[in-house]
Amino acid sequence: MPIIQVNGRPIHYWAGRKGFIERRDFVLFIHGAGGGQYTWSYQKGFFEKEFNPIIIELPGHGDSGGEGEVEIGKYAEYVYGFIKSLKLPRLFLVGHSMGGAITQTMALRYPELIKGIILVGTGARLRVLPMILEGIKTDFKEIVPKINRYAFSRNTPSDLIDKGIKGMLQCRPEILYGDFMACDRFDIMKEVENIKLPACIVCGEEDELTPVKYSQFLKNKIKGARLEIIPESGHMVMMESPSLFNQKIKEFLVSPIFSENK
Ligand code: COA
Repeated sequence: MPIIQVNGRPIHYWAGRKGFIERRDFVLFIHGAGGGQYTWSYQKGFFEKEFNPIIIELPGHGDSGGEGEVEIGKYAEYVYGFIKSLKLPRLFLVGHSMGGAITQTMALRYPELIKGIILVGTGARLRVLPMILEGIKTDFKEIVPKINRYAFSRNTPSDLIDKGIKGMLQCRPEILYGDFMACDRFDIMKEVENIKLPACIVCGEEDELTPVKYSQFLKNKIKGARLEIIPESGHMVMMESPSLFNQKIKEFLVSPIFSENK
């Protein structure tokens, strides 16, 4: 899988098994705190059939390695640099949780680069339970399974939760801490209404880390946004209900409507 230098750091990404195909829309997937390529493993096969999907691994995560950041705005600058380095045309961004905060920041800073945004399990403000921040510092190996038990809905099979735990444990404690600090500091409740792009907001009905209320707020503030609430799913909705999730995203990608008057 390719690695490019962005703002002086190596950035690893996945871009489908056949490379970019002409006349297809580009869709860039941005993972959340402690995430990586594994976050989107159930999207790869589906989206490469009709789109040009790209999965970025943020600095400090997965095979990108190196240091992470403690501010959403800094991560957004890597995503911007990544889009510019690859000379990507106007594209769709799909951001999960912290990745959703990065996506909102991109939508405010660089709307000219973006065709539409998909905000998954996220919010305009992402305060973090002190127990999570403290736990990462004091007992990383114990807090990661705890975070994942909050992140998946109650009836999730244990092997899927284990996949989440294994993925997050690949992240170094200081990187995970930085990610959650970045989330905790993120607050664009007053600015989010300035996003003027087609938007699809997706949330698991049982999401405990970013409750449905956060997504409803986004829908009310972003004009013309559509909201998809996925039943029997939690914060990791794209892993928990991949078929329905992928279908809803595809419906939006083929018909991304933005209405000023809605
Ligand atoms: N969209 C809409 N409303 C939001 C919001 C968002 N993104 N973020 C917070 N709010 C609301 C809350 O629901 C609350 O409303 P209420 O007073 O009517 O109950 C109010 O704004 C204040 O909430 P908050 O800013 O979160 O502060 P708090 O001191 O009440 O709670 C936490 C702090 C950490 C306990 C709480 O944010 C929480 O439970 N977070 C979810 C768990 C978590 O750690 N998630 C990780 C996200 S990456």
